[in-house]
Amino acid sequence: MTAILEIRNVTRRFGDFAAVNDVSLSVASGEFFTLLGPSGCGKTTLLRMIAGFDDPDAGEILLGGKDLTGTAPERRPIHTVFQSYALFPHMTVAQNVAFPLKMAKRPAEEIDRRVREALELVHLAEKRTSFPHELSGGQKQRVALARGLINRPRLLLLDEPLGALDAKLREEMQIELIAMQRELGITFVFVTHSQPEALALSHRIAVMNAGRIEQMDEPSKIYGFPRNRFVADFIGHCNMLEARVADATPQGLRLEVPGLGAVAAPPADGARAGASGVLAIRPEQVRIAAPDAALDLQNRFGGKVRDFLYVGDVTTYVVDLESGARVEALLANSAPGRAKFFEVGDAVQVAWRHDAGAFLHG
Ligand SMILES: Nc1ncnc2c1ncn2[C@@H]1O[C@H](COP(=O)(O)OP(=O)(O)O)[C@@H](O)[C@H]1O
Ligand SMILES: [Mg+2]
Repeated sequence: MTAILEIRNVTRRFGDFAAVNDVSLSVASGEFFTLLGPSGCGKTTLLRMIAGFDDPDAGEILLGGKDLTGTAPERRPIHTVFQSYALFPHMTVAQNVAFPLKMAKRPAEEIDRRVREALELVHLAEKRTSFPHELSGGQKQRVALARGLINRPRLLLLDEPLGALDAKLREEMQIELIAMQRELGITFVFVTHSQPEALALSHRIAVMNAGRIEQMDEPSKIYGFPRNRFVADFIGHCNMLEARVADATPQGLRLEVPGLGAVAAPPADGARAGASGVLAIRPEQVRIAAPDAALDLQNRFGGKVRDFLYVGDVTTYVVDLESGARVEALLANSAPGRAKFFEVGDAVQVAWRHDAGAFLHG
């Protein structure tokens, strides 16, 4: 893997406050890399430094092995697409897209050809003479993308580009973005606070919190093996049960969960008897069944349905265990002729495998 972008120990302070705090990462050529984190965690600040709109207080940013310090934004082979589109209102779609090539003083017939290609790529060929105010939000964002891609930047930075779109359009654009990135082979650094979006789009994700990177990995690793409480909680839904390690062997852990008693869990790095933390377990790893159902699972507890959330394809049941702990369990609504499996107040049992979930320290 050849790194195109390298960020080494970059810090950016505003007064005493470090908006980006000693961040290091490298992005491979052709990668779809995502910065994911809650609002205010420093994503835009980091992106602005990569683009050259702002400078780090410490650390360095390299593109293709070359330090970018002192290189003006317009001289970097990088383009940024913003959530707000930033289109020129008095220019047509074609003129907006052509703008970077006009600035670069390319010959007219080359501009014409490349604008046509770029508009075809984003499915807007028939809108070339329209003005921005005549377009929908999704179409405007497509124009901004076409403009971002026309100069064939080595790196395209996208700051919450789908943030203003409604859910359905957003999903369509996600699928198109994946296809476009694959087709063009341009490296994307994509910023979002939406975890499903990050999981769906990215080759790798850096999860940010308060100016730092908490975990950097492939989506399935981030989701399946969160490294700490913040990541487990931020990515998807997660049950968190306070737990203490009673026994640790290479085969697995025996945890003591207050009120529940002994719970079997998979091995965890550095977990020793006596350590305290949480058992993080996803609702889809928790089975829910009638009290008399035969469940051949080691971790099995009785409880009552407190609440449920029906969203069509699945239902999330909130179950109060006899111990007082509360666990969420997800059930697919795929059984024929059934709309609902349990009602509020029903006695149920919840269960999960001995190797499900993860023990997290702290
Ligand atoms: N120019 C600035 N001056 C002072 N504080 C700033 C400035 N830019 C950003 N911040 C602060 O830095 C933090 C990170 O901001 P930002 O990078 O925009 O977050 P994100 O894009 O992840 O929502 C926020 O607390 C924000 O208020
Ligand atoms: Mg931002």
